[in-house]
Amino acid sequence: PVPDVTLNDGNTIPQLGFGVWQVPDDESYTAVTSALSIGYRSIDTAAIYGNEVGTGRAIADSGIARDELFVTTKLWNGSGETWTADTVRREFDASLDRLGLDYLDLYLIHWPRAMREDYVAIWRAFTELRAEGRVRSIGVSNFQPAQLSRVIDETSVVPAINQIEVHPDFAQPQLRAFHADHGIVTEAWSPLGQGGALLDDPVLARIAEKHQRSTAQVALRWHLQLGNVIIPKSVTPYRIRQNIEVFDFELDSEDLAAIADLDAGNRLGPDPDEFDMG
Ligand code: A2P
Repeated sequence: PVPDVTLNDGNTIPQLGFGVWQVPDDESYTAVTSALSIGYRSIDTAAIYGNEVGTGRAIADSGIARDELFVTTKLWNGSGETWTADTVRREFDASLDRLGLDYLDLYLIHWPRAMREDYVAIWRAFTELRAEGRVRSIGVSNFQPAQLSRVIDETSVVPAINQIEVHPDFAQPQLRAFHADHGIVTEAWSPLGQGGALLDDPVLARIAEKHQRSTAQVALRWHLQLGNVIIPKSVTPYRIRQNIEVFDFELDSEDLAAIADLDAGNRLGPDPDEFDMG
């Protein structure tokens, strides 16, 4: 079973979930169905992924009780209009509708710069949705320390989670330390470095050999031992299964030290300081 991590609002999130970034809507149904049947109970999607409908159908068809699931989606401003609390509510309702749910476990501001509107105003609207019980926990994604500080200083509501890019060759030590200081859980997107060169790394390969595991499992284990919440993505059933089979072995301090040396600041996604939807 996947352990839970406790958030600063008292709720819990499974430490490992299933991510569906870049999974087309029709494939998301199959992938989420596999993940749920294998034992995943946390699913991470986003309005901009375009797969909330397939994801929601898979959830409904699984027959798993709603309170055993943890469902995350994320707010995107794709319309270019200036937003109010009402606009946020409209987008939230639209996501819930596509997912076929009547509440969310976690709602995230997807990118601070994608809002075309002050993210602090958006955050206040998030706090209202939570007060109404429509979402259990609220957080952000791709926020930097200065942006987190503004939100905290101006609203006194600390995001439960900041979902950011983290993998062994992009370990984000400063941002993770900031989270730890403020009681924010680090959730890692692309925890496997998007399945690229990282998984061929000779250091990971040596550690994988030692534990009789795959390099992907070693990378995921590193996250877990750091305390990160992770949402690896795969559309391949044997990998979906492999990625959850990471709770029956442990990296030792030597392994962890060797993996720490892999941090090369190797960012794969957009730089949050520069990214703008344009
Ligand atoms: P696929 O979906 O074709 O199985 P991340 O979560 O870091 O973004 O990584 C997702 C990418 O990594 C996908 O391309 C996925 O491929 C690949 N991947 C996921 N799990 C594994 C695994 N256990 N071994 C190798 N590649 C994997």
